[in-house]
Amino acid sequence: MRSACLLPLLGLLPVAALAGDVPAPVDQHDLNRLLREGEPGEAFLYAFEAGDELTETSFDATRGVGAHIGEGRRFTRFPRADLDGPKEWANHFPPREGGANATSCIACHNAPFANGAGDVALNVVVDPNHTGDPSMFLERNTLPLFALGIPQRLAEEISSDLYEQRDAARERACATGSATAQLASKGVDYGILEITRVNMAPCKVEMDTSKLDGIDGDLVIKPFGWKGNHATIRGFTRDAAHNELGLQAVELVGDEDGDFDGVLHELSVGDMTALTIYMAALERPVSTLELAELEIMNLTSQVRADIHAGEELFEQVRCATCHVPEMTLLEPVFREPSNVVGFHDTSFPDGSPPLSHGLSPEAAIAIDLTTDQPNNQIVTDDGKLHLLGGVPRNADGTAVVRWFTDFKRHDMGEALADPDDALGLGAEMFLTRSLAGVASTGPWLHDGRATSLEEAILAHGGEAEASASLYSDLEAADREKIIGFLESLVMFEAATEEAE
Ligand code: HEC
Ligand code: HEC
Repeated sequence: MRSACLLPLLGLLPVAALAGDVPAPVDQHDLNRLLREGEPGEAFLYAFEAGDELTETSFDATRGVGAHIGEGRRFTRFPRADLDGPKEWANHFPPREGGANATSCIACHNAPFANGAGDVALNVVVDPNHTGDPSMFLERNTLPLFALGIPQRLAEEISSDLYEQRDAARERACATGSATAQLASKGVDYGILEITRVNMAPCKVEMDTSKLDGIDGDLVIKPFGWKGNHATIRGFTRDAAHNELGLQAVELVGDEDGDFDGVLHELSVGDMTALTIYMAALERPVSTLELAELEIMNLTSQVRADIHAGEELFEQVRCATCHVPEMTLLEPVFREPSNVVGFHDTSFPDGSPPLSHGLSPEAAIAIDLTTDQPNNQIVTDDGKLHLLGGVPRNADGTAVVRWFTDFKRHDMGEALADPDDALGLGAEMFLTRSLAGVASTGPWLHDGRATSLEEAILAHGGEAEASASLYSDLEAADREKIIGFLESLVMFEAATEEAE
């Protein structure tokens, strides 16, 4: 009997009728004030703690969680292109990919502990082109959120190198008529850019990007998402908040209610900064060898030797050509907003300039990725402090990062491919997944189909097929050593007093 109910017919309960209890929005101007007052550490901690709360909070309708799906519902696990009435799922803006399907970030990002990956039960189901056809839906397994400042900074430094190589080739082309740039950075080859002069004065050139390898024509490395289609933590998170939680950031929709749930300004610009800072500064995944070194766990010398042998075999069967074990960060400092072209918004998706909200690379919160992580600061029995959450720093200020990716997209073969090329990047193309912490993020692969690390390896096709068959051809004992090496790459959370 609907008549006795508070609900307007097939609508949502008006939020004014509800009492709310969710965190107050973070004001970007408060963060800026702390920076101006010479308190960058305070600004960082304020943002970090606010980000912690924002990822943990189970939001309620007063803050605009969920969306006007239709059928009186606020959430749906499945894309509902069929609900296309006024204000319903199919008519939200920006267009929904899926959801809304949760009330908190850590509802999905929770394994093996908060901010981690997720089980297949938490897979996100999306239908970017609103086909309404389940055979076209994409399933995505939840990715971990640890130390995301590392991949973004590596991507920024790689892109900066590629921009320089492009610009030098453009100058050569202007002088001589044509030039070829062989793009490479941090030991990885990114293909060839061919530049032809089409006008002398002023010099105009055309760029042929068809021979680039695994990256986009804009040379912006995109380290986020299984498809490798987002350059920044902030950009990814803005979409996640909208699609997963139905929380539409001010910078996404301005003063509009794009999901028709009766709430405006669901996440502030300061909230987005806080979420970004939090994930950028979370502790990095570690190796059990490091844990043994700090006597946090015991490993026999045999196990240690096997892990090292496993890593050598990993290189021998060419896993390391894509899962590049080490890269050096020349300047291990993450900034939000970034000052690198392609890694900050020049205008927000709602059309407003970031500066009009107080957000500017000139007033950035900076995180030293070697020292500033609040988590996993370990004091050993000898009283020594070990910053296990951070990246080890070299004497010259650079830092070696073990992230196990080349930041390229690869053809992984038909069996792993998406049902169609919904995102225009190639159905079979996926970003080389970082193996940092991989032992703690199962089930594996983009849809969580692999229940063991070995299954994940054997599913490698396309460009990775040769490597996977070299793996299969190894003797059982050697295959076990590779698995043993992968099992040494873990997420770790020190049992300390909770820094709430
Ligand atoms: C319903 C489950 C779910 C919820 C809720 C959710 N996520 Fe995710 N998250 C995922 C999945 C699945 C992916 C991988 C998506 C992809 O690659 O297409 C992901 C990926 C990410 C990534 C990219 C990580 C990387 O290394 O590429 C970030 C950042 C992220 N989520 C942040 C958040 C934040 C912040 C929230 C809360 C506002 C949130 N997520 C809520 C499931 C979820
Ligand atoms: C041609 C590049 C390439 C090579 C070579 C390669 N991989 Fe991968 N690997 C990938 C890509 C791309 C993915 C992500 C696949 C997906 O999204 O489903 C991946 C995923 C994985 C995963 C799952 C990670 C996760 O979080 O789900 C594991 C484990 C893995 N690779 C191990 C290996 C091992 C071991 C080898 C050598 C035998 C290897 N890979 C060789 C590109 C490669």
